[in-house]
Amino acid sequence: MSVAYGIHDLSVATGSRVLALDLLAEYSGIDPDKFRLGLGQERLSVLAPDEDIVTMAAAAALPIIERHGSDDIRAVLFATESGIDQSKSAAVFVHELLGLPRTCRVVEFKQACYGGTAALQAALGMVAREPGSRVLVIASDVARYALDSAAEATQGAAAVALLVSADPALVAVEPAAGVWTADIDDFWRPNDSDTALVDGRLSVDTYLAAVVGSWDDYRARGGVDVADIDLFCHHQPYTRMAHKALRALAAHTGTEIDEARVAPSTVYNRQIGNSYTASLFLSLAAVLDGDDDLTGRRVGLYSYGSGATGEFLAVSVQPGYRAHTRAAATLAALAARTPIDIATYRSLHAGATHRSAVDTEIAPASDGPFRFRGITGRARHYERV
Ligand code: HMG
Repeated sequence: MSVAYGIHDLSVATGSRVLALDLLAEYSGIDPDKFRLGLGQERLSVLAPDEDIVTMAAAAALPIIERHGSDDIRAVLFATESGIDQSKSAAVFVHELLGLPRTCRVVEFKQACYGGTAALQAALGMVAREPGSRVLVIASDVARYALDSAAEATQGAAAVALLVSADPALVAVEPAAGVWTADIDDFWRPNDSDTALVDGRLSVDTYLAAVVGSWDDYRARGGVDVADIDLFCHHQPYTRMAHKALRALAAHTGTEIDEARVAPSTVYNRQIGNSYTASLFLSLAAVLDGDDDLTGRRVGLYSYGSGATGEFLAVSVQPGYRAHTRAAATLAALAARTPIDIATYRSLHAGATHRSAVDTEIAPASDGPFRFRGITGRARHYERV
């Protein structure tokens, strides 16, 4: 019998602050329905000064280590486009904070929001080559655009940690995958910029071109028909984009696809905002955490990273998966966020980046299990609280 490989555990973390988009609409003189209905977003997560991609990533991964131990973990694959160093991977910091074995690979993956899916594919290869091994994939990002820009309402922050193994408890990843790549300047962040640059219209069009392109490759490589996919999770820069993707797929394949097949995937993203690499896996978490028993169902995943790469793949939900999901913890993390006003949001946005040349001590500001302590000697320091 062939062995199934896939996601054995999945855990979510987000920022400790939250901004209601109604407040941003009021401040910016925009109809709140543009955000609620036009973008399909209600809130966005914001980080406190002592939080970043590393603290979120470690917080997401900790419950997985507590449940499964760390002896068999052979790699930490950290996907992000909010990197904190040009050389040292964010995975090294997480490895240390979690006390993982020395006998463990660490590396960072980058291709905009697509990096998490690339890391998942690499992890599947690793666990298939080394029987009994497990790989921790962590997607962690802060979506930051300029204040007062059209993209501002699509910011957000989250991390999702995945434990990848043979005989997974949650979902098995099916072998067929379709990919599409083209060099397009729809969204990027130059090395000397703290916020992303974006051509909004082009980014939407490229995202949709990549849906169709990766779908065609998926079908050509043995992927199943639309009718055989029960639910869809699409990368969500904002949740309406997942619906646009579904419609593009329906038009391209000449089929009718009920919007109810994508709606369950939007529950967490609507409250968190864009979390780049983590967004797709947040949508998968929402689907698995929903009320319906999905045992034996197939979920299609569409991953998109600007610049641009798309990938379509599918997972099948495993018997007994409901005993392993973490809905209560995710809902608790969302509910625990402190609501902030516009002035606080703008000041956190302005103070979010630190120059390494200036020694900085960061005062405790959040209640999470890990915190960013500051910078000395041009190096970043973290601690477990
Ligand atoms: P915009 O120009 O401010 O908004 O920017 P708009 O005028 O296009 O309106 C958005 C939608 O709201 C429209 O619906 C309006 O009709 C509707 P659509 O035509 O899209 O169906 N609307 C209203 N609805 C109800 N009541 C109202 C109302 N007013 C308007 N009163 C844009 C929108 C997404 C371009 C902007 O937010 C942006 O630039 N965001 C960042 C880029 C982005 O998210 N791109 C998405 C695809 S690229 C991607 O997903 C990759 C990414 O995650 C990065 C990565 O890969 O790393 C971004």
